[in-house]
Amino acid sequence: MAQGLRKGLTSYGDAGFSLFLRKAFIKAAGYSDDALDRPIIGITDTASDFNPCHGNAPQLIEAVRRGVMLSGGLPMAFPTISIHESFSHPTSMYLRNLMSMDTEEMIRAQPMDAVVLIGGCDKTLPAQIMGAASAGIPAVVLPVGPMVVGHHRGEVLGACTDCRRLWGQHRAGKIDEAEIEVISGRLAPSVGTCMVMGTASTMACMIEAMGLSLPYSAAIPAPHAERLRCGEATGRVAVEMARRQGPAPKALVTKGSLRNAMVVLQAIGGSTNGLVHLAAIAGRAGLEVDLEEFDAIGREVPVLVDLKPSGDHYMEHLHHAGAVPRLLQELEPFLDLDAPTVLGGTLRDYMNLAEDVPGQTVIRPRSNPLKSTGGMAVLRGNLCPGGAVIKHAAATPGLLQHEGRAVVFTSVEDMTNRIDDPDLDVTADDVLVLQNAGPKGAPGMPEAGYLPIPRKLAQAGVKDMVRISDARMSGTAFGTIVLHITPEAAVGGPLGLVRDGDRIRLDTANRRIELLVDEAELERRAAGFTPPRPAPKRGYAKLFHDTVMQADKGVDFDFLAGEAEEE
Ligand code: FES
Ligand code: MG
Repeated sequence: MAQGLRKGLTSYGDAGFSLFLRKAFIKAAGYSDDALDRPIIGITDTASDFNPCHGNAPQLIEAVRRGVMLSGGLPMAFPTISIHESFSHPTSMYLRNLMSMDTEEMIRAQPMDAVVLIGGCDKTLPAQIMGAASAGIPAVVLPVGPMVVGHHRGEVLGACTDCRRLWGQHRAGKIDEAEIEVISGRLAPSVGTCMVMGTASTMACMIEAMGLSLPYSAAIPAPHAERLRCGEATGRVAVEMARRQGPAPKALVTKGSLRNAMVVLQAIGGSTNGLVHLAAIAGRAGLEVDLEEFDAIGREVPVLVDLKPSGDHYMEHLHHAGAVPRLLQELEPFLDLDAPTVLGGTLRDYMNLAEDVPGQTVIRPRSNPLKSTGGMAVLRGNLCPGGAVIKHAAATPGLLQHEGRAVVFTSVEDMTNRIDDPDLDVTADDVLVLQNAGPKGAPGMPEAGYLPIPRKLAQAGVKDMVRISDARMSGTAFGTIVLHITPEAAVGGPLGLVRDGDRIRLDTANRRIELLVDEAELERRAAGFTPPRPAPKRGYAKLFHDTVMQADKGVDFDFLAGEAEEE
């Protein structure tokens, strides 16, 4: 049975008095005894004037409330931190764990039998699931949904794959000041998350495939009426979960569902960030993401979803084509369909809901994939003993096997200052190396892995080069880019030992990346290692620096991973 207001009662004297006090205070808000004697469903309120992606959160909260009340529960919305990509200094990744701690502790602190997690902008859904998994009560995810597409002079625009491209044209003088202003009002034409297959869409699809949200919840556009109906249904499901006292996220985050999420991540050509967040979510359930398994999945699972940046379409088109349930049908041979879901059944139930949409071209059949293998590969070698990742689906095929001379930047600032210097000693065959942009190094592992092509080479027509770093990359970017090199340079990883002129060999076919410098020389360099910046002395910066783990552990804090202690 649901415990309602009795949940987590802290004792002021006797238990009866504690409950009496709680009732007295909550009745100040006008609740009746009848209302209070019901399963309580918490709803995270992540609306914020600084988070336009969550602009529909107030309407979604109303829809969830309706669903909860129609099913006989009592909805209680409560605020948590909200994180938007563009308004999160130094990076949204830096704040993700703070949001997860806030979410966890507010779920734990307040009496609720189940919780609805409303989020969507890149780091928010991972943060919420991490927190709810650690808090341990039944939780169901409700994504805010993707934006609808924009239009400009007959062209379809999407945030933010087209942002960089159009700004590039503006810098080149092809788009004037007045027009770029107009475009800034058309790239993100509604509330909701970026409508390409960036991190937000990637996470929403993976979460649905893990059974943590309702079928179809990933792709319904944010402004659609259907999104609100999904909210109402989510409220109903939350009450059911409260009554059944399950499943809690840890029952849904299993080896099988993690594998299902990895299959989907490869098949949607998803964001590399998806892998980091999945590792963090797994860590909260006491599990690990096996990078070798992820690589093996990528060798057999094709890219089937034709969305930007790998393909042509946008999230609303994925929705109209049958969305995740239809994709699951196509991926059936690779999936563990017995994995449980928030509905109390299995992932097979989601798949069986799939609608066949005649003539749709967004979800390809296995017989005609967008790419014959998955989007990402995991690399090993003396440069990355803990692994690295390359989104080879978005790379230049001719550069996937490449040996070149290192051109080293020791920090993001160093790169910004020198990359366009006409005197920079660089050719198109070189390998651009960015150090100290990992979890501790920058800090917060910024999306700096997409190093720009040095201007003089770009002007000569060079479109891509091999670029390697311990940073992340936006899910909307492309190029021959090796990311998440682990361990990072700032903790003494071999990436920090690279010097200008060293030779680096990328061998994607054999999943290797090597620094071609002999062992004795590397040991000599390692002996001279000093951390790139002093450790912060106070506040969240200190907590982050002292406890953040590497990319293979999801960049979570070491004390947050693993099973929660019994209270
Ligand atoms: Fe929020 Fe892209 S900025 S999802
Ligand atoms: Mg992003």
